[in-house]
Amino acid sequence: MDDAGRPGNGGVVSRTTDPGALGAGAEPATPIGLGIVGAGAIGTVHAETALRNGLRVAGVWDMHGARADALVARIGGHAARSLDELLAMPQMEAVAIAVPNVSHADCAVRALERGKHVLLEKPMAMSVAECDRILAAAKASGRTLQLGFVCRGTPASAAAKRFVDAGRLGRIYHAKCSIYRRRGIPGLGGWFTTKAQAGGGPLVDLGVHVLDLVRYLTDKPQATRVSGACYANFGHPIASYRYVDMWAGPPKPDGTFDVEDHATALIRCEGGLTIELNATWAMNQPEGALKDGIFLFGDRGGLAFQIFGSEVTLATEEDGRLVDVKPLLEPGDALGKAWDAQYLQFTQAIRRGVRPHATGEDGRAIQALLEAIERSSAEGRELDVQR
Ligand SMILES: NC(=O)c1ccc[n+]([C@@H]2O[C@H](COP(=O)([O-])OP(=O)(O)OC[C@H]3O[C@@H](n4cnc5c(N)ncnc54)[C@H](O)[C@@H]3O)[C@@H](O)[C@H]2O)c1
Repeated sequence: MDDAGRPGNGGVVSRTTDPGALGAGAEPATPIGLGIVGAGAIGTVHAETALRNGLRVAGVWDMHGARADALVARIGGHAARSLDELLAMPQMEAVAIAVPNVSHADCAVRALERGKHVLLEKPMAMSVAECDRILAAAKASGRTLQLGFVCRGTPASAAAKRFVDAGRLGRIYHAKCSIYRRRGIPGLGGWFTTKAQAGGGPLVDLGVHVLDLVRYLTDKPQATRVSGACYANFGHPIASYRYVDMWAGPPKPDGTFDVEDHATALIRCEGGLTIELNATWAMNQPEGALKDGIFLFGDRGGLAFQIFGSEVTLATEEDGRLVDVKPLLEPGDALGKAWDAQYLQFTQAIRRGVRPHATGEDGRAIQALLEAIERSSAEGRELDVQR
């Protein structure tokens, strides 16, 4: 999970640019004018994906002006000196918001109030209350609000969804979703590990992606009860942290690390589905001993896949025998395809007025889970999930 742009592992997608990549369902010629809010690792991926998919990056705003300048120098557009200046640009129809989580709600609400469509990075915000503010602004503006749950769009996720929708799993009674990193704390000491800016550790960085994917694959059941446990065992003090490489820059020994490094939860949903989550930035386990991925347990079939993998396996019974079915997946760069899919959906939502693929309500539902997991961990008991 070290490639740039993977969940919680931002960076530049290195595929060659293919302006014709919109493919089937391509949108008409007038390009959408897009503003990038936050010119860091993932803001850069947004900009490059937007260009590849026929949007026009009209402007960039980053509170560190040099980062906006550098991105604009590479991809064109205007380096705005404030969010207001960016939002006032007449050619700006939409913005992609890729700033630290603490600023999601403020930037999203301001953009929606200025009549811009918003593609908002995960997690939606720092709290359910902030999600509600964003949802209210989206409703009042009538503009598109799409969440950056990019993992729904990989070839493996799409194949899994087809199996589920075709009824090949029957009733899904349990789902296990995991992302394990042995030493993968991002930007130790920086904003990712500072609760006031990130809201949490691997739970909000990685857990959101797999929780959303399970929820999406299982027809969005309402979560009712949660038992969560969060741990902080590594990187204290920061200088003692042993790692091979570190995404988002070297550790800052004088920085803050006050979020968890491992989170686990059991979530009960209406209808009986249970979801088991493991989201880990750092652990002592042998390389490869634990498998990342999504595992769905159904009474007719079961599914196993890695989000960015090249295989999805359906385990089922055929003609009285147990069989493993492995469909051929679309070859190529799974990550780039997922980002392209996200931008195709955003474009269609804006141009055709269709409901975005990942909605603000989806973001809020995940936020409610995050809050319940954290509270359950703090209180040491199973709790209700806020509706
Ligand atoms: N979808 C994914 O796979 C994925 C992967 C990584 C990160 N993310 C999300 O993307 C967002 C950004 O993460 P990143 O890795 O790019 O971080 P980053 O630190 O690389 O970039 C953030 C940028 O935002 C700027 N910034 C900070 N506050 C700002 C503000 N209020 N206004 C304007 N600019 C501001 C910073 O100067 C920095 O350049 C986070 O919400 C993160 O959770 C998503």
